[in-house]
Amino acid sequence: MSELVEIAAVPGPPAELVFGDWYPAIRAGELRRGRTTTALLLGHPLLLGRKSDGSLFAMRDLCPHRGIPLSAGWFDGERVTCKYHGWSFEPCTGQCTEIPSLTDADTLDATKIFAAAYPCQQRDGHAWVYLPEPGAGMGARSGGELPPLPEVPKFSARYRSAHLSADLPCNVDHGIIGLMDPAHGPFVHQSWWWRSRGSIHAKEKHFEPIRDDEHGGRNAGFRMAAHTPSSNSLPYKLLGAHGPVTTTIDFVLPNRRYETIRCGDKWFATLTTVTPVTPSTCRIDVCAAWNVLAWVPFFTPLLKYFGAIFVRQDQQTMVEQAEGLRYGPALMLIDDADKPAKWYFALKQARLRGTGEHPMPGPVTLHWRS
Ligand code: FES
Ligand SMILES: [Fe+2]
Repeated sequence: MSELVEIAAVPGPPAELVFGDWYPAIRAGELRRGRTTTALLLGHPLLLGRKSDGSLFAMRDLCPHRGIPLSAGWFDGERVTCKYHGWSFEPCTGQCTEIPSLTDADTLDATKIFAAAYPCQQRDGHAWVYLPEPGAGMGARSGGELPPLPEVPKFSARYRSAHLSADLPCNVDHGIIGLMDPAHGPFVHQSWWWRSRGSIHAKEKHFEPIRDDEHGGRNAGFRMAAHTPSSNSLPYKLLGAHGPVTTTIDFVLPNRRYETIRCGDKWFATLTTVTPVTPSTCRIDVCAAWNVLAWVPFFTPLLKYFGAIFVRQDQQTMVEQAEGLRYGPALMLIDDADKPAKWYFALKQARLRGTGEHPMPGPVTLHWRS
């Protein structure tokens, strides 16, 4: 799946996981009609597939009868059949449709039995899966109100898009605070086309809380208010040819960073997610959409090429960090550069414990050098 190098897993310590939300499980393009594949999401084994009518499904990859993976069995485009005793299931609802061993003398109603099936929808090329809180029942037939499906912001009908992903050997918290860490840029992302180490300078950025009612339901977070982006990086210089450029960056729970760069009617937007695969490993996905520089030949492959270098620099750093984390060192979060990480941990705890307090009293200005 990943277009980047596969890494040897050196799992760090586990993280608490936030259930009851949408996560990108796999690229939807990998799911062809009548086929299935498997994936791990928040430590849960999933059987993902696409029915003959094109609909996606995500089942827990465990038969409710005796626990054998359903992926060991068969899928005919309509029904998943377990290899062990041949029970069949409708995969979108998980409803059992047949138990071959039953006779006319049996009173068991097979259709009262359900395998776990989760809501699964396609957007921005991801197959998003909603994983309910453990013990909250089968997600796909719970009928409850689901939070809105996350999406890359888009500001015109026509646009181009691309996706990159990389596996990270660290727990989701390290992946996420790496994502919002402003101080690593001049060190991890040194390159002639982005920036040099010598370009480090003092910055002042304004942040404001995002309350629960934005981005839907319990997805509180914080926003780096619209500002003019770093003038020292080449991509922003290119965009700046269209007029003044502004960037807005939102982080919202459980794992999403939205960045929108706008310049008149031109725009470039990303949704970056860090998704727990297991409690000690995760995957970063960057989905981008834009309507800028459509006239530049090979802009999409160039963007993917440079984007991949950027993500690989983060990935390589986290591979090295995971080596250190194996020894369980005590860690530090310093002001102001690690303040966003502190907000993240506080927001996550508030969500996990169901206590509503936002860690930011109101707008906050942070200072750091990067
Ligand atoms: S274990 Fe699946 S049908 Fe028995
Ligand atoms: Fe980075």
